[in-house]
Amino acid sequence: MCGIVGYVGSRHAMPVLLEGLGRLEYRGYDSAGIALQRKGKFDLFKKAGRLDVLRGTLPKRNAATCGIGHTRWATHGEPSDLNAHPHVESSGAITIVHNGIVENAGALRDFLRERGHTFASETDTEVLAALIAEEFLLDTDLTASIRRAVSRVAGTYGIVVMHKDVPGLMVAARNGSPVVVGIGENEMFVASDIAAIAPFTRQIIYLEDGEIATLSAKHHEIQDFQATITNRPTSTIDVDTTLASKGDHEHFTLKEIIEQPDAIRRTLSGRLDERFKTAHFGGLNLDAKDLMAFKRIKILGCGSAYISGSIGASMIERLARIPTDAESAAEFRYRNPIIDPQTLYLAVSQSGETYDTLTAVQEIQRKGGTVLGIVNVVGSSIARQCGAGMYLHAGPEIAVVSTKTFACTLCAFALLALYIGRMRDVSPAEGAEVIRALNELPQQIQNLVERSDEFKQIAEKYAQYQRAYFIGRCEGFGLAREGALKLKEVSYIHAEAYPASELKHGPLALIDEQTPTFAIVPDDDLLAKNLSTLAEIKTRKGPVVAMGQSEVLATQVDDYIQVPGSHPLTDPILLLIPLQFIAYYTALARGCDVDQPRNLAKSVTVE
Ligand code: AGP
Repeated sequence: MCGIVGYVGSRHAMPVLLEGLGRLEYRGYDSAGIALQRKGKFDLFKKAGRLDVLRGTLPKRNAATCGIGHTRWATHGEPSDLNAHPHVESSGAITIVHNGIVENAGALRDFLRERGHTFASETDTEVLAALIAEEFLLDTDLTASIRRAVSRVAGTYGIVVMHKDVPGLMVAARNGSPVVVGIGENEMFVASDIAAIAPFTRQIIYLEDGEIATLSAKHHEIQDFQATITNRPTSTIDVDTTLASKGDHEHFTLKEIIEQPDAIRRTLSGRLDERFKTAHFGGLNLDAKDLMAFKRIKILGCGSAYISGSIGASMIERLARIPTDAESAAEFRYRNPIIDPQTLYLAVSQSGETYDTLTAVQEIQRKGGTVLGIVNVVGSSIARQCGAGMYLHAGPEIAVVSTKTFACTLCAFALLALYIGRMRDVSPAEGAEVIRALNELPQQIQNLVERSDEFKQIAEKYAQYQRAYFIGRCEGFGLAREGALKLKEVSYIHAEAYPASELKHGPLALIDEQTPTFAIVPDDDLLAKNLSTLAEIKTRKGPVVAMGQSEVLATQVDDYIQVPGSHPLTDPILLLIPLQFIAYYTALARGCDVDQPRNLAKSVTVE
C-alpha cells in the first residue's frame, strides 16, 4: 500500500511528482504529500485527504528540481496532516517517504529519544528518518548511512530519502515493498510502481529486496546491503499510459467492467490451439512430462484473487480431473504448510505485489516446491519471484475493486483446465467445445454490458437494504463470494456469501423481508436443489434476485436476470457480469466513492 515517487533532473519536480502521485493514488489515498529540495532546505507540503486536497494547498510554481512524494494508506497513526508523508526528522536534515511497516519502531523510538530526537507524528516512518540522520552523523555518505540504518530495522520498507546538505541526490532502498528506478535523459525517477514513471521514461530497473539505489540526475548506482555494486542493464517497459486514464467514463470501476470483452480477448490472444484443440502458454517453463507428473494443484491468492482460485479449482477438477483446491495465501504462509513436490502451486495476483501472496510463493520455493504465477502486472514482484507462469494482459486496473482482472483470471483458469485436460482425458471434441465457448465469450460479455440499465434498476431497487445474502453451489458459490465481496467493498452493505446447500443449516434464521438474497442459479444438474432453496427463502418472505438461464426462475423470484449459458467453464464468467454492475450501481445509489472505497487500497503490500 502507499505510493511513493521521486524525481531528480532538470525539470521542475513538483508537476512530475503530482503526475506520478495521481497515477499511484489507487495504492492508498487517505493523505498525500511532497517534499522539494531547494537551497539547502525542504519545502514540505502534506495534507490529510485525497491528492486534490494537497493540490489545493500548493504554490503555483516551485523551482526545485529534486523531490519526493507519497500517497498514504494508514498503518501506524490515523490519517492526518501530521502523519502524512514525507516525514522530516527533528533537526530538519532528512526527509523520507516510506511504504511498509517498521516492526521494531517502538524500541527504535525509545533509543532515538535518548539520543535527543523528537517525534511529531505517530508513524513508524519518522523513526526511520531519525535513525538515518543519526547514522549520517558518523559520515556524510547518505547511501552508507541508510545501509547502516536499515541493518537495525525489522519489517518491510520501500523508502526514498533526501538530505538537505546533499543537493540533487535521492537514495532508495527496498525490503519487501516494491521500488522501481526509472532512467531518463539526464534525469532519474523512482517509484513504488511503474505507473508513476511510465509517462516519463520506459527504461527501468526493479530493485530487489536488500538493494539500495543512489540517484542523481546523471548517475545511478545500485548496491546490495553489503555494499557490493549490483548495477544491471535497464528493462524497457511497454505500458499504454492511456489505458490508465478514465477517458469518458464516470469511474474507473465502470470503465474496467465495460472493457472486459477486450481484456478477455487479450488474455486469450495467441493461447488457443485450434489444431490440437488445446491451449498453449509461452511462459510456464514446464513441458508436458513435467505437468503430467503433478498429482495435485493448489491455488493461492488473497481476496478476489483467492476467490477466483476457488472457482478455478472447480474448473480444473471438472475438466482435467486432477485434484485441485484453493487457499488464502495469508493463511497458507503462516501455518507451516507441507510442500509436496508432486503438487503444482499457482499464485494468483492482479498487482503482483500482495505481500501475503509473495511470501507464500517464497515459502513454497524455500521448501523446494514448484510455483507458477498468474499475474496481471508485468514485471511485478510475484511475477519475478515465480519466474514462470502466465500474464493476464488485462491492462492496468486502477479501481480498488478488481473486476476485469477477476474475469481474466477465470479465463486463464479455463485455458489451464483445457491445457491440462487435453494432456489427460479430455477428447479433441470436448476441447473444441471449450475453444468455441472461449471464442464466443467476449461478444457474450459485450451483450451483457449493453444491458447495464437492467442491472442498474435492480441495484437501485435494493440499494437501501442494510444486509444481503449471496448464495450458489460449486462455481456458483465462488461467484456468490465474489458478488458479496464486491458489494461490501464499494457500498458498505453487510453482504454474506453462503453455499446454497448450507442455508438451512443456520443462516436461514436471518432471512426476513429486510434481507434480500442474490442467487446464482445456472441451468445445471443442481437446478432443482437451488429452486428448493429459493422456495425456502421465499416462504420466509426474503426478497430474491436470481441470475441464471432457466425461465422457471422468472416465476419464483422477485427479480430474474437472464444470463446466457454457453459452457460450464465460461458460464461463471458470464454470471459474474451482473454481479459487478449490481455492486457498482448500488454504490452509486448510496453515494459511495466507488473507485476508492474507505479503508482500502489497491495493492496490499503490508502484512
Ligand atoms: C478485490 O476487489 C480486492 N480489492 C482485493 O480483495 C484484492 O483482490 C486482494 O487484495 C488481492 O490483490 P491482488 O490480486 O493484487 O493480489
